[in-house]
Amino acid sequence: GASSLTHHGDFLKCLSLPSKASIPVHTPQSSNYSSILESTMGNLRFNTSSTAKPFLILTPLKESHVQTIVVCSRKHGIQIKVRSGGHDFEGLSYMSDVPFIILDLFNLREIDVDVNGKVAWVQSGATTGEVYYKIAEKSNTLGFPAATCTTVGIGGLFSGGGYGFMLRKYSLAADNIIDARIVDVHGRILNRKSMEKGLFWAIRGGGGGSFGIVVSWKIKLVTVPPVVTIFSVSKTLAEGATSLVHKWQQVAHKLPHDLFLQVGLSVVDATPEGEKTILATFDSMYLGDAKKLQTVMQDKFPELGLESQDYIEMSWIQSVFLFDGIPTNSSIDILVNRPQAKSMGKGKSDYVKQVISKIELEKIWERMLKDEQNGMVFIPYGGNMNEIAESETPFPHRNGTLFMIFHFVFWDEKQVPEKYTNQIRRMYEFMTPYVSKSPRGAYVNYRDLDLGQTSINGTASYAQAKIWGSKYFKGNFDKLVYVKSKVDPDNFFRNEQSIPSIAY
Ligand code: FDA
Repeated sequence: GASSLTHHGDFLKCLSLPSKASIPVHTPQSSNYSSILESTMGNLRFNTSSTAKPFLILTPLKESHVQTIVVCSRKHGIQIKVRSGGHDFEGLSYMSDVPFIILDLFNLREIDVDVNGKVAWVQSGATTGEVYYKIAEKSNTLGFPAATCTTVGIGGLFSGGGYGFMLRKYSLAADNIIDARIVDVHGRILNRKSMEKGLFWAIRGGGGGSFGIVVSWKIKLVTVPPVVTIFSVSKTLAEGATSLVHKWQQVAHKLPHDLFLQVGLSVVDATPEGEKTILATFDSMYLGDAKKLQTVMQDKFPELGLESQDYIEMSWIQSVFLFDGIPTNSSIDILVNRPQAKSMGKGKSDYVKQVISKIELEKIWERMLKDEQNGMVFIPYGGNMNEIAESETPFPHRNGTLFMIFHFVFWDEKQVPEKYTNQIRRMYEFMTPYVSKSPRGAYVNYRDLDLGQTSINGTASYAQAKIWGSKYFKGNFDKLVYVKSKVDPDNFFRNEQSIPSIAY
């Protein structure tokens, strides 16, 4: 720890040698240090006076800067945290238990769309919204299956899988990556051809921070119709939410692949007197016109009681707004350089493989109503997700998964965090009988340190890491360890939940 601070001067000298001091370096004394640090720090839970801050923030302007930073950090034993969009649920891209620097990729956000070839190169520092925008700027019949939330960074999103409202049609963002440029532990830039096969496999779902710094990705664009249809309807318990959620579990994963229908569950006021109820909000995007969607819904899920005016046709790019809580008639310019919303919160994830009965749902509502602040979103799987083998990418939650649960709790800056983090932990505990078991699956991009973490020096034994690793990756964990041990045997790229490197 202390040694990294004493080498600080040597480290800066090292940085300035090869590239003539052109790497922007921000020290805690720099006037823009705080604004850069906080720029993509969405979770205010990690922005307190007791949160450890980086002793430097480096904001490379080109790939070669990233290479130099890796070489010099390794030489001087400095811990790097890589940040793209800063959305890590546990703040791992900008926090650490040990002295560290942030390598922030926000200047590397170029997006190069090739409409004829239906591909694009995207730098890791771009956001999901910028990718959507750049594609839509050139074509209204091409899109990409990335996040529902448009401020999410590409670097972390692609590294851990990345899902959105085209998941059932085109599966994950990572499933649509065809090449990448990564700076490895030796400071070399490797692409798909020059990197090990196992490494190209690992970086498409094995989680950020373990294998190197991916600077850019080549993605395969997907076809979208010029007109898509959305709807959003909400029902309270009095309006039959329980039966609808019960039915939803049976149909959502089996609907046509063109149809994505998620359900959000939150606690709301039932009466002006403050009596509470559960509100189930069904949000949907259909890759087709309203008439066709109406036929599908009447056939598969008539109980939802949709009326013709509920179906709203629009362009694919406009439909992006629905799931991001932006008014759907906004200008698409809002997707470029949108600042991240700030809040205090914690999230967790679960996978459900068996329909939860009505009686059990009622128990879940009761539990939610007790704590009031908790919410969940059920994200439907099935469709193309079933057609990809568990071992094809590190992301293993494929065939047999009915839906994912995103558990969340948000609170006000003035409240005591423990009250709410305890709530979500209680809820998670409560859900045990209803979700996947041995292992209880989790989504690596919904990072959750409750599942375990490395020791303070950033290392974990295989056995330790397997506890969270098998939840995130199931049987793919061993292969990730194997690749990691080969490409980064000294465990230079690490964080509190990274893949360990072991001697074989
Ligand atoms: P961040 O910069 O924090 O990086 C995350 C991790 O990856 C860190 O460990 C970091 O060091 C590492 N990393 C970053 N860049 C890297 C690079 N270039 N090379 C190697 N490692 C790198 N997910 C989803 O699938 N669909 C969704 O719709 C959403 N929505 C959503 C909304 C909100 C508000 C939040 C906070 C999060 C989500 N997520 C999500 C989860 C999201 O996918 C996850 O947090 C990603 O890791 C975020 O990527 P960033 O680049 O923004 O994060």
